[in-house]
Amino acid sequence: MSRLASGPRRRSYSFTVPATDDPGSGDAQARTARLLRLQAAACRELGSVLYGDLLLHTADDLESGGPTARVLAGYLDDRLASGLALRLLGGVHAQALSGGAPALAAFYPSTGGTPEQASGSPRTWAAFRQALAEHPADVRSWLGHPPQTNEVGRAAALLGGLRHIAAEASLPIRLVEVGASAGLNLRADWFCVPGPAGSYGDPRSPVVLADGWQGVAPPDSRIEVVERVGGDIAPVDPLTEDGSLRLTAYVWPDQLDRLQRLRGALRVAAQVPAELRTEPASATLARTTLRNGTWTVLWHSIFRQYLNEAERAELAIGVAELGAAATPQARFAYLYFEQSRAGGCRVTLTTWPGEHRRVLGSAPAHGLPVHWRATD
Ligand SMILES: C[S@@+](CC[C@H](N)C(=O)[O-])C[C@H]1O[C@@H](n2cnc3c(N)ncnc32)[C@H](O)[C@@H]1O
Repeated sequence: MSRLASGPRRRSYSFTVPATDDPGSGDAQARTARLLRLQAAACRELGSVLYGDLLLHTADDLESGGPTARVLAGYLDDRLASGLALRLLGGVHAQALSGGAPALAAFYPSTGGTPEQASGSPRTWAAFRQALAEHPADVRSWLGHPPQTNEVGRAAALLGGLRHIAAEASLPIRLVEVGASAGLNLRADWFCVPGPAGSYGDPRSPVVLADGWQGVAPPDSRIEVVERVGGDIAPVDPLTEDGSLRLTAYVWPDQLDRLQRLRGALRVAAQVPAELRTEPASATLARTTLRNGTWTVLWHSIFRQYLNEAERAELAIGVAELGAAATPQARFAYLYFEQSRAGGCRVTLTTWPGEHRRVLGSAPAHGLPVHWRATD
């Protein structure tokens, strides 16, 4: 069982669907249509013709006052417009996943459907538009939440890092993750990474990160995780129906590899307990202490970019304090997978005592594959 520890209760949202002819909505509508088209191009570039087509249709539908305009009414301001396209797509995907939009589900690979071959996906759009028209309030209930994903592919970076840590000193590991989302990667040691650059885990694991490691194999050390604690300002409980739907709906319906990894990780989460708390990283750090006979490993992935300057400083201070407290008996490691200024994302590890910092490897933002480097 995962324990979603106490903290501020998640907000519940209820909406009435306002009329679309608000005075002054014209500019905001044109701007949002532009943003939907920009997101369409981004989706296409990232390999989703499906979402590329659907977003172009939603932009046209918004401008012509169709169901998209009704659903997005009241959400066309600057602040929300940034992720609005992905919120909308997530809300509609949730309808397809939960049985509310069977006509659309027939075209979504995530629900066992067959993608349409016709250019512009006209029949898929008709089904998507029908979902908007039939479930405006349900879809709108998704517009108030930031898209929330927990990228299971990033566990490949975590696992390689843990192998380096265990090679430095073979001690049980207490894993602490900040910005943990649903905490799925707190169970990384139950996943499997087969491949040419070393391999890890049981191939029968529900999560197989195929060819997840390339380059110089991480050391073949034994990983023993004895504690799993995560913190997030907006955690998702992976053991609830709502949490599982939320995580699944934000994965694009034609990205079957990501969906398969997520579904496998949800199964692992149901078997392997982890503590997940509703709290900012500063609070997680403040209550983290080191323990004799163990490594305490602080880990985060694609998280730092969400912190403001003060929060980054707090994180750095918390890490430095834990590092200063480390001894050969009570060790501390800081492992992260974050975007680097040089491009791509890097796996970086610092261990204490000694403050030994090294870049272990790099990977695309979704985590696979990791290219491991030679390290000293
Ligand atoms: C892009 S997600 C990454 C989630 C997860 N680490 C992964 O790689 O899949 C960023 C996460 O950071 C969380 N977050 C943002 N600011 C935070 C803060 N100050 N403290 C804790 N969590 C935060 C968000 O709620 C979100 O779950």
